[in-house]
Amino acid sequence: MQLTDRQIESFQTEGYLFLPDVFSKAEVAVLNREVPGIFALDRQEIVREKDGKTARTAFAAQHFNEPFRRLSRHPRLVEPVQQLLDGDVYIHQFKINAKAAFDGDVWQWHQDYGTWARDDLMPEPRALNIALFLEDVTEFNGALMFIPRSHRHGKLDAGHDLKTTSYPLWTLDNETVSRLVDEGGLVAPTGPAGSVLMFNCNLVHGSPSNMSPFDRTIVYVSLCHVDNHIRQFKRPDWIAERDFTPIETLSDDCLADLVRETAAAV
Ligand code: SIN
Ligand code: MN
Repeated sequence: MQLTDRQIESFQTEGYLFLPDVFSKAEVAVLNREVPGIFALDRQEIVREKDGKTARTAFAAQHFNEPFRRLSRHPRLVEPVQQLLDGDVYIHQFKINAKAAFDGDVWQWHQDYGTWARDDLMPEPRALNIALFLEDVTEFNGALMFIPRSHRHGKLDAGHDLKTTSYPLWTLDNETVSRLVDEGGLVAPTGPAGSVLMFNCNLVHGSPSNMSPFDRTIVYVSLCHVDNHIRQFKRPDWIAERDFTPIETLSDDCLADLVRETAAAV
């Protein structure tokens, strides 16, 4: 899947791009039916909320789940990023974020590159996120919020927050967020399951807790140019991957094939 010049310009200016209906309902269903089983696994890659029960994030499912392996190499996710980063990319991080109905906690205001630079020594912000909505994301279930154009400020000062949630994060202070919102405002891209959202790794973002009865599962693939691979291996390899091999994409039908295979098996 290739982006148009207009889409590229919008991404560069605003720091994000929202693409509705990139994956079909059947493709999303093939992934969604794996999710409860993944969240129920007793593995270190499954990070729980502070209650110790509710899944918050499942890291690195592309290594142990076939549908998510295929998704991590899907041309509809990988090709637009190769286009924007101008060359071969590898997976720096792969996660399924739950934001469970009633219990899903906040993600504080942060920049992803803030963590990748400080914890992983990623040399440049030559990496970005591409996310797939596995549920409808609405104004009710903890949509991701962006401060448009905030990526233009580069890496901002941050503090390491080890307390607010179950997951440590380099977060921005309220004064910085207020100043950036004065300049750029706020957006919260919402849309149906199957939509794709791309954002610059320096774009400031966060999300509120989910007090609705609706789950909000989103898969995030963080892709990095192969020349820009991380230099420090402080975090576990299932959080900050160490295989810098360029991704070879699968066919556009790789998930649809699974839909057909499953239908044939019943
Ligand atoms: C993130 O910023 O990494 C996740 C935010 C979210 O899923 O709401
Ligand atoms: Mn983030």
